[in-house]
Amino acid sequence: MKFEEQLDKMRLDWDERARQNARFFVNTGREQWTDEEFRESGRHTVEEEILTDMINICQGKDPKQMKVLEIGCGAGRVTRALSEVFGEVWAVDVSGEMIRQAGEFLRDRPNVHLLQNNGTDLRAITENESFDFAFSTIVFQHIPSRDVIVRYVREVHRLLRSGALFKFQVQGDTSFETKPDDTWLGVSFSDAQAVEMAESCGFEARHRHGAGQQYFWLWYFKKPRRAMNSVA
Ligand SMILES: C[S@@+](CC[C@H](N)C(=O)[O-])C[C@H]1O[C@@H](n2cnc3c(N)ncnc32)[C@H](O)[C@@H]1O
Repeated sequence: MKFEEQLDKMRLDWDERARQNARFFVNTGREQWTDEEFRESGRHTVEEEILTDMINICQGKDPKQMKVLEIGCGAGRVTRALSEVFGEVWAVDVSGEMIRQAGEFLRDRPNVHLLQNNGTDLRAITENESFDFAFSTIVFQHIPSRDVIVRYVREVHRLLRSGALFKFQVQGDTSFETKPDDTWLGVSFSDAQAVEMAESCGFEARHRHGAGQQYFWLWYFKKPRRAMNSVA
């Protein structure tokens, strides 16, 4: 399967899922979600993964002054909760239909910028090296291509400030193989592969949690540029 075909497949499949029942495919915990339940579920994710980790995430900055990036925002579940904590949130998703529904759910959140992207890069975002934090959950576990994920990691590296954190979740259960056209069961990463990906993309994989499990969390810190050596 060609790379472009894989990107098209992700967009088409996720558009279809979004048309069928976006909130269910975003969080399969319930078939029907009220706005309030969906909002609470996003707040719960942020409480667990963000508010417990503010030292790594904020690094002394006031969250209200921070600009954060979310990859794979779906119908805006986590995006809304992020926008309640941080000053500015930029969120991308490969599915135009997810972005449309997120737009409705977040219409009262003026600090959120939603963009459909092509499923592998962040060219839709025109600002360079200005993000203070990047986050992604239950997205990469659905991507059937390691190449796509590595490209995202490189793109996040391009957009983050030096030293900033990209905290994200990948599939850590390596006991199965994904198929190139399967946009539900994505590629998995061993601990060694996670470290290797960080190194090859200019990050330090300083913390990892959940290797071998579905929720394998990675803390990638953008390595500071090497100080210029004044000695000839
Ligand atoms: C299970 S949902 C999770 C949404 C959101 N992260 C949350 O936790 O509520 C997965 C989302 O990832 C998006 N997605 C899948 N593949 C993607 C890709 N290659 N690039 C960007 N978004 C992608 C889907 O469109 C979908 O909205």
